[in-house]
Amino acid sequence: MRPVDPRLLRHARAARGYLIFTVGLGLTVTLLVLAQAGLLAHALATAARGTGAAALWPALAVLLAVVAARAMAAGGGETVALRAAATVKAELRRKLTAHTLRLGPAWLGGQQTGEIATLATKGLDALDPYFARYLPQLVLAVAVPVAVVARVAAADWISAVVIAVTLPLIPVFAVLVGLHTKARTQRQWRLLATLGGHFLDVVEGLPTLKLFGRAKAQVQVIGEVSEAHRKATMGTLRVAFTSALVLELAAALATALVAVEVGLRLLAGHLGYQTALLVLLLTPEAYLPLRALGAQFHASMEGATAAARACDILDTAPPGQATAGSRLGSGAPVPADLRSSDIMLNEVCVAYPGRDGLALDGVSLAIAPGERITVTGPSGAGKSTLLALLLRFAEPAAGTIEVGGVPLAHLDLAAWRAQIAWVPQHPYLFAGTVAENIALGQPGASRAAIDHAAALAGAAEVIEMLPAGLDTELGERAGRLSAGQRQRVALARAFLRDAPLLLLDEPTAHLDAITAAEILATVETLMADRTVVLVSHGPGWEGQASQTITLHHGQLAALVAT
Ligand SMILES: Nc1ncnc2c1ncn2[C@@H]1O[C@H](COP(=O)(O)OP(=O)(O)OP(=O)(O)O)[C@@H](O)[C@H]1O
Ligand SMILES: [Mg+2]
Repeated sequence: MRPVDPRLLRHARAARGYLIFTVGLGLTVTLLVLAQAGLLAHALATAARGTGAAALWPALAVLLAVVAARAMAAGGGETVALRAAATVKAELRRKLTAHTLRLGPAWLGGQQTGEIATLATKGLDALDPYFARYLPQLVLAVAVPVAVVARVAAADWISAVVIAVTLPLIPVFAVLVGLHTKARTQRQWRLLATLGGHFLDVVEGLPTLKLFGRAKAQVQVIGEVSEAHRKATMGTLRVAFTSALVLELAAALATALVAVEVGLRLLAGHLGYQTALLVLLLTPEAYLPLRALGAQFHASMEGATAAARACDILDTAPPGQATAGSRLGSGAPVPADLRSSDIMLNEVCVAYPGRDGLALDGVSLAIAPGERITVTGPSGAGKSTLLALLLRFAEPAAGTIEVGGVPLAHLDLAAWRAQIAWVPQHPYLFAGTVAENIALGQPGASRAAIDHAAALAGAAEVIEMLPAGLDTELGERAGRLSAGQRQRVALARAFLRDAPLLLLDEPTAHLDAITAAEILATVETLMADRTVVLVSHGPGWEGQASQTITLHHGQLAALVAT
């Protein structure tokens, strides 16, 4: 692993400024280290000569100032480091959320959501020691030994040679240990992420697990993963402690070597007292930062690993960007109005990453304005994938989609989606009020508009029954509403959105016949004057369709125009 991940500097602006600051501070501290040793040697030599206290005071005062400055640099450096870490974490979390949204559901479907949640929270928090301890130590580990060897060489070249020869032992040992622990640290992180994923699964699927009597077994699984994580952590710590011992020993032996060599030459009169003192004071300082770096390395690896994973995600190209061959965003042309333009699918194929075979295989379809297309077919045939394609959650692996004659991939994504209202197969209601959930269809909608949309969706009675009406907090996933009630809230969203293209994914699935009939009537109003693509297993929609297509294993099996 590289000491500083260049991708981190690219994704987190705050890290760049901080790095410059750290280098500056490290060089200052290096100068202070040299000054402190020099002053101390001078003061001791003066005292030994017995010239009296008066001659000592100036040197002692400066020495005190140097010590105070070192303390201030250490304290100030840590404050700045933690502040930088907080900024970097906030920036990475914000980007991670935004980028995950951009990558969309097709990508998220192939990921472990628990792992990403752990990464964005606990994982990035581990960047604190990385910034506050590891990076400053890294600068010192480079600057101080070089400066010390140079200073000692100026005073006594023989000692400088001894230090210069023994110094590389420390990083060599540290690298050997590091290579050994790398796999362990990564395993530790993976286990922690798995633990997060399992826990999320258990909490979300508790009713299912209870019913099937699997709750105990899951608790056991969590217990096992925790145990594995504990062992991995202890293993890493054991190696860390042992390596600290080895490094300590190497440094102590090297220092002793210098001490013996200096002591002998002092006795023989080949070396001045003050020079000998200076060398003895400086020698341990050369080894100290390298040893400390070894210790900080272990403490900071978790943060570095998490940051690397975050960068991996941030560097994943969103669908469309990779295939479109054009830059999306502000520069892209705005799509034609769907009220008057056709959507043409030509031999479109879709493949999901990590899946064999095609989810859609050579589908051609013309969607004229105002048309109502019903898509049927068995489970797994690719019906939802067809909607995902129109929503641009998925991109065609082959074939083209054109809107008013322009390839969809070249059009501005946000402007395209603004023309679509979508009621997914499993509508997601967020923790928030009913009104907020409906307003998702059109942020900033007036209260009257929300009321109206709720009424059109037949959600008015549902909302009346709730303790605080539209302002009732729904809680995560709106557990307090029935499936049919949730469906009505989702339909209200679509009404409020008032977009020309309406995509409905099994709007009456899981509903009883009466509720289904009611929703059917609601959808009938919603479909007026709109282009509609409606996915449905069951009968009941054919009467309103202008085209019914049937999918089988991703292929268009039948195309019935009415
Ligand atoms: N995110 C994904 N990652 C990998 N494979 C996927 C993903 N989503 C769907 N698939 C696969 O693609 C195929 C088509 O799935 P799709 O959801 O389009 O089916 P469907 O016709 O909507 O089925 P259902 O009627 O059960 O909703 C299936 O084999 C499914 O397993
Ligand atoms: Mg589906």
